Amino acid sequence: MNIRLEQPKDYREVENLTREAFWNVYRPGCTEHFVLNQYRMNPDFIPELDFVMEEENMIIGHVMFSKAELILDNGNRKPSWTFGPISIHPDYKRKGYGLKLLQFALEKASEIGIGFICMEGNIDFYKHAGFDLASKLNIHYHAEPKDAIVPYFLAQELIPGWLKSNGITEATYCPPKGYFVADEHPEAFETYEATFPSKERLRLPGQLGYEE
Ligand SMILES: CC(C)(COP(=O)(O)OP(=O)(O)OC[C@H]1O[C@@H](n2cnc3c(N)ncnc32)[C@H](O)[C@@H]1OP(=O)(O)O)[C@@H](O)C(=O)NCCC(=O)NCCS
Repeated sequence: MNIRLEQPKDYREVENLTREAFWNVYRPGCTEHFVLNQYRMNPDFIPELDFVMEEENMIIGHVMFSKAELILDNGNRKPSWTFGPISIHPDYKRKGYGLKLLQFALEKASEIGIGFICMEGNIDFYKHAGFDLASKLNIHYHAEPKDAIVPYFLAQELIPGWLKSNGITEATYCPPKGYFVADEHPEAFETYEATFPSKERLRLPGQLGYEE
């Protein structure tokens, strides 16, 4: 197993991997491959933290990071960071690859001075990489009440004490705009999606908002 920076020659393969990894997981079909396709041109994208994981000369994993912001109660903004999509090929899921890739990337992130990360995800996976509920650090999610314990909103100080040393005792996080590109440009997304082999969009148990 090898982890290296993504190269332009990998882009299509990695977008296909992202599509395979996310397809029908959270909703019928997925849009994360389009997010990635667009994000590489976004000033928030962090090329030094755009990693692929290879096994037997095939790309089986990928993760990208983004600059983000925390908003303080007085309206001031402080830099922070987030990551995703993170993808492991369906044939390689639940074999420890995702955790290895994430731990590697978080270590590289702290090496370049990234002190704090928050993100939306399943704590059952991310707790293994040091994440906990963001509410425990007084970081709120923009779309939820301030006093809510939001089970999918997670955070971690990669540099211990980073929040305090940056004068942040409480703040609100709003995901960067780049993550909503498929909702904002549905036609562009469908045009892009049509360049991939057709796959069936299915409504499945476990997806967001699925009701029997
Ligand atoms: C989520 C993902 C990156 C995890 O990578 P992975 O290689 O499958 O996970 P790992 O084998 O490293 O998992 C380590 C541990 O985390 C937990 N875990 C992993 N995926 C989990 C999931 N989907 N739900 C709950 N716990 C999970 C388990 O405890 C696992 O150990 P176990 O298999 O011994 O029980 C990968 O499954 C994936 O690409 N999923 C589809 C896309 C996705 O959901 N990306 C994340 C969006 S937030």
